[in-house]
Amino acid sequence: MKHHATIERREFLKAGTATVAGTLLAPATLGQALAGDTKSVRIGSVGVGGRGTALLRTLLRMKGVEVPAVCDTNPAAATKAQQMVVSSGWKEPTLYTKGEEDFRRLMDRADLDAVIIATPWEWHTPMAVCAMKAGKYAGVEVPAAITLDECWELVKTSEATGVPCMMLENWSFRRDNLAVLKMIRAGLFGEIVHCHCAHSHNCMHWYFDAQGRPRWSGDHLLRRNADQYPTHSLGPVMSWMDINCGDRLDYVVSMASRSLGIKDQLERKHGRDHAPAKLPYKQGDIVTTMVKTARGNTIVIAMDMQLPRPYDNRWQIQGTRGLYNEQRDAVFLADSPGKAENWEPFGPYQEKYDHAMCKDAPGAIQGGSHGGTDVIELREFVAAVRAKTQTPIDVYDSVTMSVIFPLSERSIAAGSAPVKCPDFTGGRWKTTKPKFAVES
Ligand SMILES: NC(=O)c1ccc[n+]([C@@H]2O[C@H](COP(=O)([O-])OP(=O)(O)OC[C@H]3O[C@@H](n4cnc5c(N)ncnc54)[C@H](O)[C@@H]3O)[C@@H](O)[C@H]2O)c1
Repeated sequence: MKHHATIERREFLKAGTATVAGTLLAPATLGQALAGDTKSVRIGSVGVGGRGTALLRTLLRMKGVEVPAVCDTNPAAATKAQQMVVSSGWKEPTLYTKGEEDFRRLMDRADLDAVIIATPWEWHTPMAVCAMKAGKYAGVEVPAAITLDECWELVKTSEATGVPCMMLENWSFRRDNLAVLKMIRAGLFGEIVHCHCAHSHNCMHWYFDAQGRPRWSGDHLLRRNADQYPTHSLGPVMSWMDINCGDRLDYVVSMASRSLGIKDQLERKHGRDHAPAKLPYKQGDIVTTMVKTARGNTIVIAMDMQLPRPYDNRWQIQGTRGLYNEQRDAVFLADSPGKAENWEPFGPYQEKYDHAMCKDAPGAIQGGSHGGTDVIELREFVAAVRAKTQTPIDVYDSVTMSVIFPLSERSIAAGSAPVKCPDFTGGRWKTTKPKFAVES
């Protein structure tokens, strides 16, 4: 078994290093992704709590995807996932439940092509690094990294091994966002100069358990004051603004509001004497980050996850000839005949610019659940694993979205001082052509 793994890995790395050092593999074409190739792909599932279980359910519906190994420190969660695999008609997967480091035994298996990581944040980078070193594609939940050092570790490991690492940022695959991307590429908004985006989602149910005690995610609210969840907002903006393929994030300036929402929501739900309500949460309620890009464009990113409110992303992208506004579900196009100074409904543009990826994924526009976005992102990830090509979101894009977490923290701590964003691509952003969701 080991011998087989070594050969396979060597061939794989050969394919990976056939390109210029550091550029990794070429992206799969959309044709490859949709070709319906069902060559078996073997994926290990690491972390099968809320999100990991949802991803596993989607994976098990895909033709040719096998899950021979499941890892979770909670044996009950692992067993539940094991039963899901068996009910889908597959052989019982091996379980890895012997503590926090047991994922390493799973990564050592010779029969896995990839792993999906959906664990608490501090495990994302160690697990993805371990996967890449073992020659397995890493599909890692958001954010891929939570410190600057971790961002670099992911980049350096992916470059050294030639193995891709994709952060599973599902909002990059939303149907409306992909149509907007096509409109931008068709030049409808002219030259892009600015974008606004937000992750506005009251996540108290996710930060705290039913008794109102901080979960692992809630612990981060105690320890850090930052945009702790920047990737859902920034996901589609990456390709809209050619980040890492023509432009790059240059520096950020962040500001955090007072921290009142956690205490207020906990007290209202659990009473004034509730001990966790009295803890000193560092995290401000609303964190606003401004980004200046190398090309001179600007991005506003808002994190708003501890105040009661309906879900919202507030995407707005603006150029010299018009803009798209997600909240209004509308566009304004300066060159649209007879429409001067008025918003137009986005619906007809959605139809006209619908992306090929979405054609057979109904519900890919958000609506409470993740709709079809998980189907599209996992299908694209699996297609890349199967074809041994680059993933649609590569390691550079994964860390660029994630790095807003530590950079915003530094800026806030320094009284909103500008903080430089590293160039993870080593200058290649200048020559790399847009590759995300390019239709052939
Ligand atoms: N993309 C999305 O829309 C989305 C939605 C929700 C959560 N997430 C992300 O998914 C990840 C998981 O979140 P969740 O809500 O499922 O959390 P969760 O607490 O429900 O699940 C985490 C699981 O990981 C297990 N675990 C912890 N340490 C482990 C270790 N060392 N080895 C193996 N298993 C371990 C836990 O036992 C648990 O079952 C987070 O990174 C979160 O940000 C993404």
